Amino acid sequence: MKIAITGGAGFIGSNLALALQEKHEILVVDKMRSLERLDNGNLESFGHFKNLLDFKGELFVGDIRDEKSLKKIADFKPEVIFHEAAISDTTAYDQNKVLSVNLNSFQSFIDLALKLNAKLIYASSASVYGDSPSPQRVGVEEPKNPYAFSKLMMDNLASKYFDKLHIIGLRYFNIYGKNEFFKEKTASMILQFGLQILSGKSPRLFEGSDKIYRDFTYIKDVVSANLVALDGKSGIYNVGSAKARSFQDIVDILQSLLKTNLPCEYFENPFKKAYQFHTEAKLDESFSYRPKFSLEEGIEDYLGEIKRIFEQEIDEDKKNSSLFKRLADRI
Ligand SMILES: NC(=O)c1ccc[n+]([C@@H]2O[C@H](COP(=O)([O-])OP(=O)(O)OC[C@H]3O[C@@H](n4cnc5c(N)ncnc54)[C@H](O)[C@@H]3O)[C@@H](O)[C@H]2O)c1
Repeated sequence: MKIAITGGAGFIGSNLALALQEKHEILVVDKMRSLERLDNGNLESFGHFKNLLDFKGELFVGDIRDEKSLKKIADFKPEVIFHEAAISDTTAYDQNKVLSVNLNSFQSFIDLALKLNAKLIYASSASVYGDSPSPQRVGVEEPKNPYAFSKLMMDNLASKYFDKLHIIGLRYFNIYGKNEFFKEKTASMILQFGLQILSGKSPRLFEGSDKIYRDFTYIKDVVSANLVALDGKSGIYNVGSAKARSFQDIVDILQSLLKTNLPCEYFENPFKKAYQFHTEAKLDESFSYRPKFSLEEGIEDYLGEIKRIFEQEIDEDKKNSSLFKRLADRI
């Protein structure tokens, strides 16, 4: 098959590209990392060439809002479009920017998929649930930030096309795994705690982290969910591990695997007004995705890569910085 992947130089998109390239012809479209920053100081786009070092397909550097990118995809004539490109930062507060990148471009992708008769599988997000009761299910949404709202608006738009198009929105819960390093501070806490512990520093957690639960989902399960979506019925589906675990669990699992016993440091959660305190995916029986990795299994599978990042990607001066505030800023 011919497959186009937007955001294919980012975390999830690159994992899809690398997993699918042996059997399929892949076009990646990504804006790549630029020096532009959001209102919160984080980079606007995290795509990184190192995520694609083993990629054998075609890369087109372009913005998803740009006609040239759409034309490039149209000329490629994909049978499937995995649409992962987005401002993926849940703490970005520039509503105009987040919504215009994430939402406005989406109509163009729907139109393109209709024209090409291609399947459109796109990244939605569990952030749409906000603090709605756990386990979260499609239909009960309470977005708490512009990013979450942009994803909900995408889902609403997609739902108008369920009977016209093979269109599937995947509500990813908190994803962790290989190729997330270049997301800097927005990378998962599994990576961030792993690097803190490897540097011999106390893991830093929000106060009450033993009672802040998330559904942490391993990247290999996310790739499987996207493959299931190739044959699924149009709709919006949760993609999680279906098990809520605490942030404290992550640190405890890492310390056990790394055989450390560092004391934790706790500090006040600055995001608590717009924070999710308990997420757990309610999986849809009619969508045949089933997660394979528990948090213990996912972290164990990922640990070698966390060690490689610590040894090869982190500058010596950053290893000595207590917060790892800007993990990969200058890479
Ligand atoms: N990682 C998670 O836990 C998670 C959870 C829920 C939803 N998602 C969603 O999954 C998708 C992939 O997320 P990710 O974690 O891989 O993030 P990421 O930031 O690593 O990937 C997004 C990619 O999109 C590219 N991009 C950004 N703006 C672009 C633009 N205007 N034009 C072209 N490319 C652009 C970036 O360069 C980056 O490579 C996103 O839509 C994100 O919102 C991720």
